[in-house]
Amino acid sequence: MKKTFFTLILIAMISAGLRAGNPPDEGMWLPMFVERLNYVDMQKMGLKLSPQEIYDINHSSLKDAIVNLGGFCTAEVVSDKGLLFTNHHCGYDAIQKHSSLEHDYLTDGFWARSLSEELPNEGLSVSFLVKMDDVTSRVLEKVKPEMSESERSAAIGKAVEMLKQEEAADGKYEVSVKGFYNGNEYYRFVYEVYEDIRLVGAPPSAIGKFGGDTDNWMWPRHTGDFSIFRVYSGPDGKPAPYSKENIPLKPKHFLKISVDGVERGDYAMIWGYPGQTDRYRTSHGIQATLGEINPAIIKVGGKILEIMKSDMDKSDDVRIKYASNYAGLANFWKNKIGESRGLKRLDVYDKKKAIEDKFSAWVMADESRKAMYGSALQDISDVYSAYSASKYNTKLWYLQISFFGSQMMQFPMQTQGIINILKSGQKGEELQASLAPFYEMGKGQFKNYNPATEEKIVAAILEMYRQDIPADALPDIFNLIDRKFKGDVHLFAKKMFETSVLTTPEKYEAFLAKPSIKVFENDLAYKLTNSFYNSFMTQNMSMTQNGEKLKKAQRLFVDGLRKSNPEKVYYPDANSTMRVTFGKVLDYYPADAVHYDYVTYAEGILEKEDPTNDEFIVPARLKEIIETKDFGKWADKNGRMVVCFLSHNDITGGNSGSPVLNGNGDLIGIAFDGNWEAMSGDIAFETELQRTISVDIRYVMLIIDKYANAQNILEELRFVKK
Ligand code: ARG
Repeated sequence: MKKTFFTLILIAMISAGLRAGNPPDEGMWLPMFVERLNYVDMQKMGLKLSPQEIYDINHSSLKDAIVNLGGFCTAEVVSDKGLLFTNHHCGYDAIQKHSSLEHDYLTDGFWARSLSEELPNEGLSVSFLVKMDDVTSRVLEKVKPEMSESERSAAIGKAVEMLKQEEAADGKYEVSVKGFYNGNEYYRFVYEVYEDIRLVGAPPSAIGKFGGDTDNWMWPRHTGDFSIFRVYSGPDGKPAPYSKENIPLKPKHFLKISVDGVERGDYAMIWGYPGQTDRYRTSHGIQATLGEINPAIIKVGGKILEIMKSDMDKSDDVRIKYASNYAGLANFWKNKIGESRGLKRLDVYDKKKAIEDKFSAWVMADESRKAMYGSALQDISDVYSAYSASKYNTKLWYLQISFFGSQMMQFPMQTQGIINILKSGQKGEELQASLAPFYEMGKGQFKNYNPATEEKIVAAILEMYRQDIPADALPDIFNLIDRKFKGDVHLFAKKMFETSVLTTPEKYEAFLAKPSIKVFENDLAYKLTNSFYNSFMTQNMSMTQNGEKLKKAQRLFVDGLRKSNPEKVYYPDANSTMRVTFGKVLDYYPADAVHYDYVTYAEGILEKEDPTNDEFIVPARLKEIIETKDFGKWADKNGRMVVCFLSHNDITGGNSGSPVLNGNGDLIGIAFDGNWEAMSGDIAFETELQRTISVDIRYVMLIIDKYANAQNILEELRFVKK
């Protein structure tokens, strides 16, 4: 599951609530504590490696083969030349950027037959975890209970800066310190970051994204969701920016490929970088999610997607340009639909309420507990009521989705800095030098942009605002729309696209060459974005106190909850740090009288085939392989070709591309999705229903071998067989 949109979210609505009692397989554990907390359970379930073989900071260990890809996905090193496996949907943006009408790698796939054909990807990096440590006491050293939240943040911020400096080794490492358990604990992570990452291989979308948005978030699945990259280092083996002189990385550790396949009950362990979960959200948070947050996302996101899709279907050029943005938004949007469905069906509200009632009883039984935790739940409830009364959540999410889905909200935002440069009084060459980065920005902006589509999106957003936000809380651009355009948002959007200097590359460059403060300040796109931004900031400021109150109350709630169940080990919410989840290969029962098996086979691809639907086209060569059963050594013991499998693991967005490992630490699959029946899993893990969906590594091999005939890739890999 890719993190995509989650990274862009400005403010995460975090609150609290967790069921008591850890069912097996729930939990995203910190590698540093695996030996102490999980090792015995892991061994019982089938792990054969020693604790040192999986996590060791002095010697190479399994953790050295797992990387954070670009902050939004996970990848794993699979050869001694720095080859990386991840998902197709993780490589999608890179593949899209290399695609054009002439080289449509999205449709046709891409295979480098030698190192020299591999494609560099500006801005894409991978981070190797060097080590992590617990810095809680040092972070909280200067924090006093009587401090306000902002004083507390300031004290923490100072300590964090120092802790980062300490390990940065003069810029050799990137260091981050992150809060856990809603700010009750802090850990420090030291990374080595490589910036020269090249695209090596990708199947066509008809394999890598087979089933499209229809099958997304669902089982049974038949998707070859993988792509291949390579990490390059400088000639000295150290991180270096892209250069022709760079060489394939010599990694500390790489994974071997198991061709034994999976059986029900087999040990399965997943390592990766889950982005964000909210397992401690309270019943109040559930109400806000169901009543305000998700409906806002679903309404605005759905409308933007509909506009994009209709234009993408009409033109290949628009299809390629919007592919990556569309996929990201569609993925997030469907997730929220499933999340609401799951929260309702699985009675998550009642489950949270039960935890809170137990918590309250524990608090009430003791005076010192009352003093410490007595107001936490009431405060949380008060804040959510205040949010509701002011339509805060709706406005916030309308705005966030609009910024995410509309380039004409993003670009004016990115170029706002122009105004300060113009006002600084610079002239001539000096001025042009200052504006240079903005010329570059324009090149990026107009590459994946279609003005007609954007005009419709802007109008639709304005229309939804008008419908659903109280008149006195609308951004002030609506005054102008009312005054000058008789309230007609379409007329406004049309005029804006006609007159703004930000809506075509020609007008934009001409403006930069002869800039004017007056022109920019009167630009309708600039005005629109400014107005939305200001409205957001005002709204946010008015809620600062509530935000701080909520943060504090949640911290206390989580602290008290842990103390009230001292025998239980609580795992921390995901926060884009390396985690391990272990469980087994397992089927499930999605509904009364329905059983879902734990593997899918290649025949299922042909069952789903529909040449009239671009989500279910089967490439001719793949069809031939399946029809002639040309599976070679990648078939299972009955000669059948497994495509995907299920396991009982706890993953979320950011885990996409994570390796699924057997008891020996060998690669059996690449995780890429969660299942529809448990989409509320980010808020409450559903042990009977929640599964991870992975592509079987043997299907990945089949595609590389028989479909792409990329023997150069196979030769690099190391295979193991029982
Ligand atoms: N649901 C997956 C995730 O969040 C992404 C799957 C991408 N495939 C697709 N058909 N959109 O990671």
